[in-house]
Amino acid sequence: MKKRLSESRYEHSLSVSFTCVCLAMRYGYPLDKAEIAGLLHDCAKCYEDQELIRRFEKHKLPLSEEEKNAPAVLHARYGAWLAREHYDIGDEEILSAIACHTTGKPDMGLLDKILYVADYIEVRRFKADNLPQMRQLAFEDLDEAVYQIVKSTLDYLKQKGCCIDPMTQKTYEHLEERRKTHE
Ligand SMILES: [Fe+2]
Ligand SMILES: [Fe+2]
Repeated sequence: MKKRLSESRYEHSLSVSFTCVCLAMRYGYPLDKAEIAGLLHDCAKCYEDQELIRRFEKHKLPLSEEEKNAPAVLHARYGAWLAREHYDIGDEEILSAIACHTTGKPDMGLLDKILYVADYIEVRRFKADNLPQMRQLAFEDLDEAVYQIVKSTLDYLKQKGCCIDPMTQKTYEHLEERRKTHE
C-alpha cells in the first residue's frame, strides 16, 4: 500500500482506518475488520480514470455507461476487486464496504456505514462546511450521519455540475424512502 499510493493518500488511508476503529468501538463491530477496510479502501486510487476503465474491461468486470461518465467512483469497485485478488481479503463485509465507500448502496451493513462515514470525517479532511456537525453526529447516530453525508455529496455534485452516478442517487432515494416510512 505504501509503495502504491502517494504519501498523502497513504496518510489518508491510515487516518480512515483509525476512524473506522473508533466507530467500530462505538457501534460494536470487530475492530480488526474495520481497521483493514479503512487501510485498503483507496487501494485503487492510484490509477487514472482511463486506466481504471481499461482494467475493468481487461478483467471483464461489469461497467455501465453511467459509471463511465462518473469515473471518480470506479476506484471503489476496482479496489474491492484488488483487495480480493492481490491482498487476499475474502471477507465479504470488508469487500462490500470498500466497493461502496464512495456511493453507499441501499441496505448498507454496519461496516459499509462505518467506512462511508469515516472516509468523510477523518481528521485530515477540512473542505466540507458541515464537518464539525458530521464528526459529532457520526458518534451519536450513524444512520443519520450516512443520510446527511449522502445528501451533501449529492448537493455538492449538482452544484458543481458533475455527473451523478446512479448508485449514489439510488442510495439517497432508498434512505429518503426509509425516513418517510419511519416518520
Ligand atoms: Fe475513495
Ligand atoms: Fe478515501
